[in-house]
Order: sequence, then C-alpha cells, then structure tokens
Amino acid sequence: MIQKKTKENGLINLGDIVEQKEILDTNDKTFEKLMFIYSIAIKELKNKIEIIKDEFKILYNYELIDHIDSRIKEPQSILNKMENRNLKLTYHNMIENINDIAGIRIICPLKKDIFTIKELIQNINGIHILKEKDYVTYPKKSGYSSYHLILEIPVILSKSKMHVKLELQIRTIAMDFWANLEHKIKYKPENEINEKESKEWIKCAKLVRKLDNKIMLLN
Ligand code: GTP
Ligand code: MG
Repeated sequence: MIQKKTKENGLINLGDIVEQKEILDTNDKTFEKLMFIYSIAIKELKNKIEIIKDEFKILYNYELIDHIDSRIKEPQSILNKMENRNLKLTYHNMIENINDIAGIRIICPLKKDIFTIKELIQNINGIHILKEKDYVTYPKKSGYSSYHLILEIPVILSKSKMHVKLELQIRTIAMDFWANLEHKIKYKPENEINEKESKEWIKCAKLVRKLDNKIMLLN
C-alpha cells in the first residue's frame, strides 16, 4: 500500500492508498486492510443513523427508523461483479467501480420517512452523495422500490483520513418484505423464473405500494 499526498481538506480517496496496477487477491493483506476500512465506514455511518433513530424516538416520540441492516460484500461477489463488468482484477478498479462493497439498509415504517431520512443523512457534515436513485417514486420494472444512495463518507484513522464509498438503501418495512422474498426467488441469476411468475411479483409490488400509501394516510 502507498500513501499519497492529502488534498486540502486532509482527506485522500481510498483508491489513493493502492498502487494503480496492483492485482486483486482476496487472500492477501491488502484486501484484508481494505475490507477493514470499509467496515469502519459502515460503523461510522451506522452509528450516526442510530443516533438519528434514538433522537427521534426519545426527543420527538416518533419511530422514524424501524431497524438498520449492514453487510460487507462477500469476496466472491466482488470478483463476480468485476468479471461480469469485464473489469481487470486490480484493487484500483475494485475501489473505483464497485460501489456496494460497504452496504447499509435503513428500514422505516412509512413511505414519507424515507425522504426524511434521506434529507437528514444528506445534511450530515462531511458526507457527500455521489449517486442517487429514487425507485420509490419510480419503481423498477421488476416492481422493486427503495431509495438508493451511493455516498462518500470520511473515515478517520490515526495515521490517515480518507473518503470511502458506501451504498445506502432506504425502504419501508413493506418494501423490505417484498424485496427480500423476491430477491431469494428471482434476483439471483441462477434461478430462472417464468414470465407468468414474474408478472405475479410485479402485481405483489403494486399491492405493497398500495399498502404503503394506505398506511401512510392512516398515520
Ligand atoms: P447492482 O445490482 O448491485 O449491480 O447495482 P446497480 O448499479 O444495477 O444498482 P441498482 O440500484 O439497480 O441495484 C442495487 C441493489 O438494489 C441490488 O444489489 C439489490 O440489493 C437491489 N435491487 C435492485 N433491483 C432489485 C430487484 O429487482 N429486486 C430486488 N429484490 N432487489 C433489487
Ligand atoms: Mg448490490
């Protein structure tokens, strides 16, 4: 690993700590160090989200967030994704192109909570939004709904400070219920499902949207 000169804010990009052409090996120390840094990014953001969750509950008596899930992408999934995208297996390519190595999912009760949470996260000091996909207002063809953000968050260690990318998905309990089941059955390419089944899943997604809208009115 190399250490590049820092920019004016004192932060470097995670990609700057690896040699441009260094070959990716999921069994070596560099990979382990990088995964450690991604895990810190998760801890940092998760902690901030937990504070928001508790703040709303204790100060405003409002259950804004139901729960928070997080995960680090499996080494094999990273390799598969890079191979599917015809990316040369280097650390640099991994860091620059695979945006969901660190992933956090926020599950909230109501559809409107999604947008509140998004605003709150957007306003956290030092966090930048690199990409944004609103599958809540514009669901995917599959029926999938969630709000997706690719964020860049600062990770401060004793000897280095860097920007690390992280994927954040925000969805309601109902959206999460649909997505988890549908993912198990359809999203994985090893499972072929026919057109009729696919249409049924889209119908279920519509029911989920109706349910979310109805519940929001009740509240
Ligand atoms: P990848 O799918 O991760 O390669 O990224 P992408 O750039 O195509 O982004 P997108 O925002 O479409 O999807 C990112 C993630 O959202 C996926 O890894 C899934 O977790 C989730 N997702 C997207 N589409 C679907 C879907 O149709 N069904 C389910 N269950 N999950 C989905
Ligand atoms: Mg993904």
